[in-house]
Amino acid sequence: MAPSLSRTAPAKINLCLHVTGQRPDGYHLLESLVVFTQFGDRLTVSPSSEDEFTVTGPQATGLPVGAENLVLRARDLLREETGHVEHVAIKLEKNLPAASGMGGGSSDAASTLILLNALWKLGLKQDRLARIALKLGADVPMCLSETPLIARGIGEDITPLSAVAELSVLLVNPGVPVSTPEIFRKLERKENPPLPPLTALDTAPALFDWLHRTRNDLQEPATRIQPEISHCLSALLATGAELVRMTGSGATCFGLFSSQEAAERAREEISASHPDWFVVATSLLHETEAFDHV
Ligand code: C5P
Repeated sequence: MAPSLSRTAPAKINLCLHVTGQRPDGYHLLESLVVFTQFGDRLTVSPSSEDEFTVTGPQATGLPVGAENLVLRARDLLREETGHVEHVAIKLEKNLPAASGMGGGSSDAASTLILLNALWKLGLKQDRLARIALKLGADVPMCLSETPLIARGIGEDITPLSAVAELSVLLVNPGVPVSTPEIFRKLERKENPPLPPLTALDTAPALFDWLHRTRNDLQEPATRIQPEISHCLSALLATGAELVRMTGSGATCFGLFSSQEAAERAREEISASHPDWFVVATSLLHETEAFDHV
């Protein structure tokens, strides 16, 4: 029997997110610098005599485990696209809060595609996987990439970046789920200026300089709907982080730090003052993880 395969489905961070227009079908046009972190969910797939799906981990409570879960939608769509019918047992260790702007569900779906493509020896190339991924959600193709990238279109038009500075990041979520469609609906101005021209982003000063000229256009409507997000941003600012912002449509906010020690100190401070918040110190991911045979 083939061995089980396992990999991390990393958290996604939009270091900036400009909304530049809206398509006739209602989807918004974006320009975003997207990075991934070493921290994420963990997925394991194993050959099995019947289909199974188990969810464990600190963020498992309340997560839908039926056919609507993006992991099972990815499995089912891959079967539909390839005609492959083998059963599989899937384990998801859920470490990322749901509906939190870190692309947890999208990243789980992308990792499911990567793992099942390998387990079932389907041999699908990246462009075919990306087309399948887009049917699952606008953010799923970028989550297949995992290295720093610029996303345009509705998020599916991806340009990988050769190098982005190695930084530590503190993720803070106040425990309030946020509905992405609602935040987009509450965005008053749909046509905002594009990203500034890209420059070298491979050193921390250059990256911070460029990022300080960018925004997350969803931060304003999100903080209006969910004031807890402002508290997160203030708490992060008080730690002396070099850049503080919300990711995606929230509610997770992040602080960037040049050193791991500074990020760890900030983690201790915020965890002590807000013991009920999700607070994680991690680093940016620079290389795609394949998978472990377990
Ligand atoms: O594609 P996905 O299902 O992840 O998107 C969730 C919702 O977020 C969409 O139904 C849409 O309302 C909104 N969205 C958007 N523009 C994007 C991505 C998502 O308006 N580029």
